[in-house]
Amino acid sequence: MLHDNIKVGENGHLYFAGMDTVDLAKKYGTPLYLMDENKLRENCRTFLKCIQKHFGEKSIPIFASKAISYLDIYRILKSEGIATDVVSGGEIFAASKAGFSSSMMFFHGNNKTDAEIEYALKSDVGYFVVDNREELDEVAACAKKHGKVQRILLRLAPGIDPHTHKAVVTGSVDSKFGVAIETGQAMELTKYALSKNNVKLIGFHCHIGSLIFENTPFSDAAEIMLSFIAEVRKQTGFTSEMLNLGGGLPSRYIEEHPTVDLDKTFAAIKAVLDRFLLKYDIRKPVIAFELGRYICANAGMTLYTVGSFKSITGYKNYISIDGGMADNPRYALYQSPYTVLVADRAGEDKTVIATIAGRCCESGDIIQEDVKIQPCKKGDILAVLVTGAYNYSMCSNYNRLPKPAMVCIKNKVDRVVVERESYEDMCKNEL
Ligand code: LLP
Repeated sequence: MLHDNIKVGENGHLYFAGMDTVDLAKKYGTPLYLMDENKLRENCRTFLKCIQKHFGEKSIPIFASKAISYLDIYRILKSEGIATDVVSGGEIFAASKAGFSSSMMFFHGNNKTDAEIEYALKSDVGYFVVDNREELDEVAACAKKHGKVQRILLRLAPGIDPHTHKAVVTGSVDSKFGVAIETGQAMELTKYALSKNNVKLIGFHCHIGSLIFENTPFSDAAEIMLSFIAEVRKQTGFTSEMLNLGGGLPSRYIEEHPTVDLDKTFAAIKAVLDRFLLKYDIRKPVIAFELGRYICANAGMTLYTVGSFKSITGYKNYISIDGGMADNPRYALYQSPYTVLVADRAGEDKTVIATIAGRCCESGDIIQEDVKIQPCKKGDILAVLVTGAYNYSMCSNYNRLPKPAMVCIKNKVDRVVVERESYEDMCKNEL
């Protein structure tokens, strides 16, 4: 199977994190998000081990909580010694509510509102990753008002093409994120930041995109960022204390995807860093990475109940499920590949080709198109694998569908970490 927490049991059922998924679907109802706590922790530990091995004890592993944000995950991260990236007042609130230390938060976003800036400052968020000049002015003014000096990184666009879906490319020169190095605007903003009171420039950040299977874009980005750091020192005398290289590591969604080797990616970046340190006599910056998908994607799975199998003679087959784009919009948005299985007969051959359709009122509500799957009928449980990243966090109430419950499994014990929404919950803010 794709990952070692996914197996077929002796009864032919699909097992996840050691538990029968058909039983879990019966117990909690569907659609149902599952999270494997042991896998989450294992991924956190691999991250910590690899970052320390290549970049030293002081390096900072950060989880990009936009990939999945709920109270319990912040508790898990905290206990694993992982920092968090937050992109809104909502994420700061949730992380704080879960007891996550604000000094370990990196506040991102290309348009943080003034209210969020004030909220983050009052919450003592450790680092702002400043996107633009207006934000810099606002952070400095607000920090002054509160008698603080805020630590900041500047978000730079290194101008890299990471060969991924265009919707998740973020480090190109024409990006909405950050300031471009190539145009000279990154240097301008750096000098401006150094001239400002109430902000302390700590270093630089880039994030080139998401779901990147090659190592070269990462090492190329590191090279560009490090050369910029050298140029800044030459022009201003400022030595960057930190370099945050963002996230973007993939996960295996289908058998055709290669296994992801964090150690190798980090080794490639480390080689660039070593060359740089040798060439310029510069103090090594603290290296940070903020991985989202790598940490949580393969810790998740979604279960649905099949409502119908429709065969359009001479055309195609549809399997309709009781969820869809509202709980997983990733195929609709990016045509993302997924592995799908009939959980009741997971060991059987996939002899049918069908399109897995959601229940929303539009034809684009699809989870996978023309995929191979086991034969199935109404009432069967359909599993979509590797849904831990950007599913729950991108879930909506489209068509007034309540958000699914999430059940976390730890050492073969299941517990609800997110309750299923009720109809009443969905109306609670409406007058
Ligand atoms: N750092 C920053 C500043 C980011 O914007 C992101 C993701 C990450 C780190 C983590 O990237 P990751 O390691 O998860 O690739 N909704 C899309 C992905 C959007 C990524 C947004 N930024 C999807 O479902 O594929």
